[in-house]
Amino acid sequence: MYYINPDIVNLHRIFDQNARDNYIRMDLNENPGGLPTEFIQKVFAEITPETISKYPEQLAFTEKLAAHLGCAVNNICLTNGSAEAIRYIIQAFTSPNGKIVSVAPSYAMYEVYSKMYGRKHVPVAYNNDLSFDTQNIINEITPDTELVIIVNPNNPVGDAYSEQEMEQIIAAAQKNEATVLIDEAYHYFYPNSFLKYALENEHVFVTRTCSKLFSLAGCRLGFAIGKPEGIALVQKLCTPHNINAFGMAFAAAILDTPGMLQSMINTQLEGKRFLVESLRELGYEVNAKEGNFIFVKPKTDADTLVARMKTEKRILIKSYNGIGCLGNCLRISTGPKEIMKIFIDALIALDK
Ligand SMILES: Cc1ncc(COP(=O)(O)O)c(C=O)c1O
Repeated sequence: MYYINPDIVNLHRIFDQNARDNYIRMDLNENPGGLPTEFIQKVFAEITPETISKYPEQLAFTEKLAAHLGCAVNNICLTNGSAEAIRYIIQAFTSPNGKIVSVAPSYAMYEVYSKMYGRKHVPVAYNNDLSFDTQNIINEITPDTELVIIVNPNNPVGDAYSEQEMEQIIAAAQKNEATVLIDEAYHYFYPNSFLKYALENEHVFVTRTCSKLFSLAGCRLGFAIGKPEGIALVQKLCTPHNINAFGMAFAAAILDTPGMLQSMINTQLEGKRFLVESLRELGYEVNAKEGNFIFVKPKTDADTLVARMKTEKRILIKSYNGIGCLGNCLRISTGPKEIMKIFIDALIALDK
């Protein structure tokens, strides 16, 4: 009999990321503004037939990244988006039926990967007022826990953890010999990082992505950071030549351009501030914490509004059901002020 893995047969996946060209994309926390065209052209001017014909070499970029992060090359494993790094950490550090603890709602792939590999995902819920008790995570860390996933700041609610909270979580995980994965996909929109814990402790990893502030979602580049022994295990899981040359070329150029990162951060924060202030002036209830996304309680039905925004205004946003006291609401990815203005005008026109 042919074998088919039942975990895969029963796995529910959503492949909804097609036909998003020519929309204002505020649904997946990309940068709706993108990188400046002149910058892209400058990077393309350096691309040679050799860049494309040969398998990509990672060392030069990893050295640059290590210098930027303040760590060594062997602390870093580059991956095809941080979604891949998360998957490899789950594969390497958890076993079938092993318990994986993470908050909910959060990035959907923690649960998807858990099901894909037959692990037991344990979601830890927010309070109804969208506050969160770290103690609830700690209570779930038991001797059968193999992995604790912390998103800092969390997507979609935007909470960030304090040093003390993170130290308590790591201590509870270490007591139970569970690995900790700190997902910092939304670093840069929020400056505090827990990288030092990954560099100092075995079985603590940080993942980061170039899909968000770096605006390179189309190039697929992410990475895991940790102690060399753990990173070597993650590296072993990588498919050969998993990092594409374009992602590294763009990310290297961003790091090499003086002031570029800070100017991108400023543009993002200015747009977010403008969006939140405008929405509040218009009487909207807004949950805006850290990260390049906010929740808004619409005046009309969230799902209908998402559909109308798409067809009538060519703007993509996302609806979430049952988000604490906000109920059904919209998650809006933030970006440059000009784009936020277009969104506000569209919302005023449709949400009534
Ligand atoms: C919290 C979080 N982690 C990881 C990712 C994965 O990003 P990527 O695979 O593009 O690096 C996302 C994407 O939205 C995310 O929200």
